[in-house]
Amino acid sequence: MEVMASAPGKTILFGEHAVVYSQPAIAAAVSKRAIVHIKDTQSNKTILKSEDLGFEAELDTKNKKYILKKGKPGIIRYILEALHIAHNHNPIEITLSIDIPIGSGLGSSAAVTVATLAALYRYHNIYFTKKELAEIAHQVEFNVQGEASPLDTLISTYGGLIYLDRNKELHKINAHINAPFVVGVTSKYGSTSKMVKGVKLLKERFPKVMDPVIETIGDLTDEAKTAIEKGNINKIGELMNINHGLLDAIGVNTKELSRMVYIARGAGAIGSKITGAGGGGSIISLCPGKVDDVSNAIGVYDSTIKLTFSKKGVTSKLIGARNINNYGKNNRKNNPNSNYNNNNNPNNNNNNNNNKKYPTKYTNTNSKKSNFVNNNNSSASNSRNIEKRVNNVKSNNNNKSKIKNNNKDNKKFYQNQNAQPIKNNRKDYAR
Ligand code: PMV
Repeated sequence: MEVMASAPGKTILFGEHAVVYSQPAIAAAVSKRAIVHIKDTQSNKTILKSEDLGFEAELDTKNKKYILKKGKPGIIRYILEALHIAHNHNPIEITLSIDIPIGSGLGSSAAVTVATLAALYRYHNIYFTKKELAEIAHQVEFNVQGEASPLDTLISTYGGLIYLDRNKELHKINAHINAPFVVGVTSKYGSTSKMVKGVKLLKERFPKVMDPVIETIGDLTDEAKTAIEKGNINKIGELMNINHGLLDAIGVNTKELSRMVYIARGAGAIGSKITGAGGGGSIISLCPGKVDDVSNAIGVYDSTIKLTFSKKGVTSKLIGARNINNYGKNNRKNNPNSNYNNNNNPNNNNNNNNNKKYPTKYTNTNSKKSNFVNNNNSSASNSRNIEKRVNNVKSNNNNKSKIKNNNKDNKKFYQNQNAQPIKNNRKDYAR
């Protein structure tokens, strides 16, 4: 069997750092993605490879250890943590393709984490809502990094434009900024935890000065939300510039970031600011009609990436046929709706969330979990064990964001087909 899942990177448009103090933030998924393939292997080892990142490692998913065969570790820890939580530790082959630059503030670790988890759920045939997927992905980031806001994993899961409010509730912004933008990346790595600690220290030393700055970032983020909804591109640009000034005030700017911001504005960007933690990493410039000018100007000293926003969140699909020996022949014969007895089933290959394309088995309104797992005992208990482990992780997750629901029954697909997550939209399902 072979499955694949992909998830987008992100850029924070407004509110980084202030979001740590319960102010709102706006982030957007971008047109660069992490793609994870998982397939069965004849070998007795779990192998992780990435040509894009130039590494290969042998993983011990149970004990969270790895032997590096080639390249540098970095992102491996996120994949290993995801496998530790959501895999049964049988040998598999994992391949990562990624065009998001690592450590640039564009959400590479979140994209890799979300794509790995989604691929694992698909591989083990477990249905999860996007809400659940985002929560586990956030926990993976938290376990690896020691601290993390839920913003990156949320945006990587849902795609599009997201506003995280003061109660950490998530709202999709129903607007699309068509203008392309340019990201400038410094060669200096920006450490998120170091920068977050620096802001905390400054706040402790000058609370009367710093607290209003943080609140002002929150207020401008609210104004930006309205400007985005109204498609007022010039106002968005102005607010980006103000946000940059306030990020400078809280101590996360650097000479290199400043240089890129002012070069971008000089070359015609209507808005330009640090994106992410600062101290290195990236800036983002909104430059309708001036993409090449801005890109070339920044490119004299630093690297640039041209990006567009992406509405597409996480997706996953089954590529190679399931190994039918895994799924109880008798039940397959008796169950005309079984997904597993039909390798030519066109639904096997869909990666969109259109409910109509699901196998009948899953679209039965009265479908219960048992209907989903009964085809085979070993596969069923495997799925259940993994779910149990994932649920344990979820109950330990104290740092969750809430996803604004019109219906609180944001349940698993196979438990309640009538559950209507975000905006009554079945796209909330992780697959
Ligand atoms: O640099 P990034 O993309 O990891 O963004 C960090 C954003 C902060 O607000 C500074 C921290 C956070 O966890 O939200």
